[in-house]
Amino acid sequence: MENLAEAIHNKKARVAVIGLGHVGLPVACTLAEAGFQVLGIERNEAKAAHIGAGISPIGGNEPRLARLLTDVIQEGKLRVGTDYAECRETDVALIAVETPVDSASKKPAYEALRGALRDLGAHLRRGSLVIIESTIAPQTMAKVVRPLLEQMTGLKADGDFYLAYCPERVMPGKLLSNLRTCNRVIGGVTPQAAELARALYGHIVEADLDITDALTAELVKTTENAYRDVQIAFANEIALLCENVGCDVYEVRQLVNKSPYRAMHVPGAGVGGHCTPKDPWLLVHGTEGKLKARLIPTARAINDSMPLHVAELAEAGLAEAGRGINKARVTVLGYAYLENAADARHAPTIPLVERLIALGAKVTIHDPYFAEHSIVLRQAIAGSDCVIVMVAHDEYRSLNLAEVREWVATPVLIDGRNVFDKKRAQDLGFVYAGVGNL
Ligand SMILES: NC(=O)c1ccc[n+]([C@@H]2O[C@H](COP(=O)([O-])OP(=O)(O)OC[C@H]3O[C@@H](n4cnc5c(N)ncnc54)[C@H](O)[C@@H]3O)[C@@H](O)[C@H]2O)c1
Repeated sequence: MENLAEAIHNKKARVAVIGLGHVGLPVACTLAEAGFQVLGIERNEAKAAHIGAGISPIGGNEPRLARLLTDVIQEGKLRVGTDYAECRETDVALIAVETPVDSASKKPAYEALRGALRDLGAHLRRGSLVIIESTIAPQTMAKVVRPLLEQMTGLKADGDFYLAYCPERVMPGKLLSNLRTCNRVIGGVTPQAAELARALYGHIVEADLDITDALTAELVKTTENAYRDVQIAFANEIALLCENVGCDVYEVRQLVNKSPYRAMHVPGAGVGGHCTPKDPWLLVHGTEGKLKARLIPTARAINDSMPLHVAELAEAGLAEAGRGINKARVTVLGYAYLENAADARHAPTIPLVERLIALGAKVTIHDPYFAEHSIVLRQAIAGSDCVIVMVAHDEYRSLNLAEVREWVATPVLIDGRNVFDKKRAQDLGFVYAGVGNL
């Protein structure tokens, strides 16, 4: 361990980052920038080739990342490949592969994680440090990661090699800055592993590095995303109740939050992304026992219902304007799950559009961050019977509503993200419905 601790301290440790996605790529670039020699292992050959050529596959507004990647590739600090055999030469391996849940059972689907562990295990050197960065269900380190690595290597994780769980807290749009400035939880399978991991992250993180055990770290990560999901579900429920009685949920929220110790979240047209819709299920799965989780699944159901509620608002808005939804031309603004990002994983627009099509609407999706939906905005809106805002991209916030009024055929505006002023829209002649603000 002393040799490895010294190598990490002197930045002589060679680091492998496995899975070069939204988490792994910025981590690999940041470690390379900090002075480590980094090897990126990416299963997807085309993606690996792309990244190896210094081109970032992550679209949207991601400050500094594309430039940093080009620099660290050109300087030879980051090499990218698909062959795990090269891990024989590395001292530290970070795993940042996707960890979805099965869409029907909501149980973890760990194919990518198991694959990475098997392939790494076949080449892991005695005395190495392995860090899992992917979000995993509680007990996964004890029941999946450790046994699989020990079986593959014939080594023990209490000294033959070191094992820690250090989940990421990054958000698309802020990947590099979050990496540097967010506090980190370090769950060591052994205290020595935690100390080694802390020494490594100490080179790149300018925030607290809180050491705990692996199970606690697993609970912390999944709880923080379940917390967010439940808070959003609460805000969504209040939005629906406000609709019942004709009140503006955004004004209610603003005034609620003036009361001490209240911090009501923002309601809206649904929750997407790779993490928030699935991490609550990882928490539920990993803590199964005599008592059943009740609030967390309910919150998931509320958030999943919001895009369908938006479809109902569109149908009602069209009816008010004297038009049926069947054959109506509906323009959906925003395909991403997050504003100004090019990530559509579990985006609420997907179930919304499915429902609209099932109702007979002719749907046009606009999103400047996706080539297939990046038509001229005016063209997307021209002749529309109903415009639905699903994502608060800057381009939509700066839309001139008076112009939109001239472009559309029927003036129905459904605002899923509180982008437009209701009174102004109504003054221009729109039938307006916002989520939580009819
Ligand atoms: N996206 C986020 O903002 C975010 C934030 C915090 C935590 N996380 C967690 O981090 C993990 C990764 O998420 P992501 O968004 O980076 O996913 P991603 O899908 O963007 O990236 C995962 C990458 O791993 C690669 N991969 C899969 N299996 C592999 C294997 N066996 N060997 C090598 N490469 C492999 C994939 O091809 C992909 O490029 C997940 O557990 C996620 O929950 C994500």
